[in-house]
Amino acid sequence: MGKKRKRIIIAIDGPAGAGKSSVASEVARELGYSHLDTGSMYRGATYFLLKNNIPMGNENDVLTELKKMKMDMADNKILINNEDITSFLRTKEVERHVSWVSSLPGVRKILVQKQREIAREGGFVLDGRDIGTQVCPDAELKIFLSASPEIRVKRRYLQLKGNVELDFIRKDLKRRDEYDKNRKAGPLKPAEDAIFLDTSHLTRKQVVEKIVRWAWEVIEN
Ligand code: DC
Repeated sequence: MGKKRKRIIIAIDGPAGAGKSSVASEVARELGYSHLDTGSMYRGATYFLLKNNIPMGNENDVLTELKKMKMDMADNKILINNEDITSFLRTKEVERHVSWVSSLPGVRKILVQKQREIAREGGFVLDGRDIGTQVCPDAELKIFLSASPEIRVKRRYLQLKGNVELDFIRKDLKRRDEYDKNRKAGPLKPAEDAIFLDTSHLTRKQVVEKIVRWAWEVIEN
């Protein structure tokens, strides 16, 4: 009888527009794993706050409101208090406020704990900013994906299907990069043991193939 294969955790971190979510989703599919897009959890929390007219600026108000939020993830859909809010995650309003919301230590505490619970059993690919450093520091494989700013802007534009102007995306990406890198709680930075992968001149398929190959090396050793 064959030995049961171990099911590892793969952490994929990097800046906005590096292609993390689509790569993570395909890697998960190739390996028969689940995918958790942690950015959409921060977006979901931001949407919930906006919908309930909570002013952005006061951490206490935000945390009080988030106590009323039940977030469930199913097939990369996000349900908040049992309502599917996935289609609202990429609106301009959410884009504008999500960096501030995700910089709040209290918000990160709630969502990081949830992410750890979801991935506890292994067999998960998680993508975000702090997966390798904070959420799953023991992940068996850590990748830091990057790409040149202009390429990331173009990818984001295509991802948003032309609904948001290029210039807005360019400014927004720059602002979010600064925010993500410089915040105190869970800043964007590669884990010391992460593999750095510049995807500027690689197709998505090539990136997926590389990561799947590295994953098999870890699984079989
Ligand atoms: O990857 P994304 O653009 O969907 O992420 C949305 C925002 O959430 C982004 O501004 C950074 C933040 N984020 C975070 O702080 N930590 C994560 N693990 C994932 C996303």
